[in-house]
Amino acid sequence: MIGSWDKSSWRTKKRHQMPEYKDPEELNKVENSLKSLPPLVFAGEVRNLKKDLAKVESGQAFLLQGGDCAESFEEFSADLIRDTFKVLLKMAVVLTFGGKKPVIKIGRMAGQFAKPRSSDFEIINGQKLPSYRGDIINDIEPTIEHRLPKPERMLKAYTQSSSTLNLLRAFSQGGFADISRVHSWVLESTKGQVGYKKFFDLATKITNSLEFMSAAGVNSENSDSLRKVDFYTSHEALLLEYEEALCRLDSTSGLPVAGSGHMIWIGDRTRQIDGAHVEFCKGVQNPIGLKCGPSTDPDELIQLCKILNPENESGRLTLITRFGSDLISDHLPKIIKSVKNAKLRIVWSCDPMHGNTIKSSNGYKTRPFEKILAEVKTFFKIHMSEGTFPGGVHVEMTGKDVTECTGGIKSIDDEDLHSRYHTACDPRLNASQSLELAFLIAEELEAFVQNS
Ligand code: PEP
Ligand code: CO
Repeated sequence: MIGSWDKSSWRTKKRHQMPEYKDPEELNKVENSLKSLPPLVFAGEVRNLKKDLAKVESGQAFLLQGGDCAESFEEFSADLIRDTFKVLLKMAVVLTFGGKKPVIKIGRMAGQFAKPRSSDFEIINGQKLPSYRGDIINDIEPTIEHRLPKPERMLKAYTQSSSTLNLLRAFSQGGFADISRVHSWVLESTKGQVGYKKFFDLATKITNSLEFMSAAGVNSENSDSLRKVDFYTSHEALLLEYEEALCRLDSTSGLPVAGSGHMIWIGDRTRQIDGAHVEFCKGVQNPIGLKCGPSTDPDELIQLCKILNPENESGRLTLITRFGSDLISDHLPKIIKSVKNAKLRIVWSCDPMHGNTIKSSNGYKTRPFEKILAEVKTFFKIHMSEGTFPGGVHVEMTGKDVTECTGGIKSIDDEDLHSRYHTACDPRLNASQSLELAFLIAEELEAFVQNS
């Protein structure tokens, strides 16, 4: 199938953005411990996600992927997981109503710990330090000692991911995600809120639809699909020692599966054709995401797609484009045209976060809500004119009331950023901005469905 691939073959390729551990024995010990632990996800679930993503590829479903830029050991609690999950569910209900299609829900959760950085070093308070690379690798505390990569952090990340997943499974299957309950949260978030009138009106239409279905005899008591949700996990497969150690053979097919999360993706900085990350990801059966920023060359992208999805399987490959609102029109049409020429089956998703990061007037890394929205709108417009399906969105968000991105109905401005700026890495949409974005994307989706 994949020639000489095995779960370690990435080690013969060039590593990018990965730490050099100083103590090989310690590393080896940790890898062996991880190898003896159960995988976090199972092959059957991974296959189900691929089937769900195949529906997105063929325009019958929409993808919502979201969560933290970086999960952290310190910011870890049941409440935080619950709140992020709640916001994702609220967004999904709104999008389902707008697009009249099922929404496939994937968290950047339960494994999103490793971060690529634009520079190996950063200057903090005049001191040059190795960059923070995510809690699975080193500690954010700005001292040389804390910034050393430590293998045992992988075990902590595994344990935290496992608890997170346990809770997510309970929430999705145990009645918490009941649609009428989720919808009551949507109503609560919009009712009487300044600027939310049009969203509250839309939410009222959802109420009417649910009441109609209930009158017709379909309700969450007799329909599992209204009471439970499928919720999947994903993260950037950056730290390949961790990924390799959790890679398992699917007992049904005998093929390798990344056991660290349902979907894994390759970052914009690690998608080198002959690099270690492409090598690892090409051999596992999971749905794969590929981030595409402005440096993406359309011809090289086609080669990459063929390496990652040699059988052109629907649902296997999601291209997550992240050009920025100013550059998307220069790049996305070219990429879509190449993919169409090559007749590749692709899920198209828009990450409107990573190309829209700026420095605020007072020095915070932030993202303006209007730029985020502008990129999504252009994404829909370009897909409309190319005749392709704008399959989904990929956002960095949290259920908390942080002040990290500017704008939105509550108009956070540069002066507000300091008040609740908590992110360990990139600025996230807060709960209210996330829901607002979902309402606005629902309008785009509705118009797309009506006009295509
Ligand atoms: C991310 O998704 O957090 C990220 C680093 O994205 P990208 O690889 O697109 O820069
Ligand atoms: Co990020």
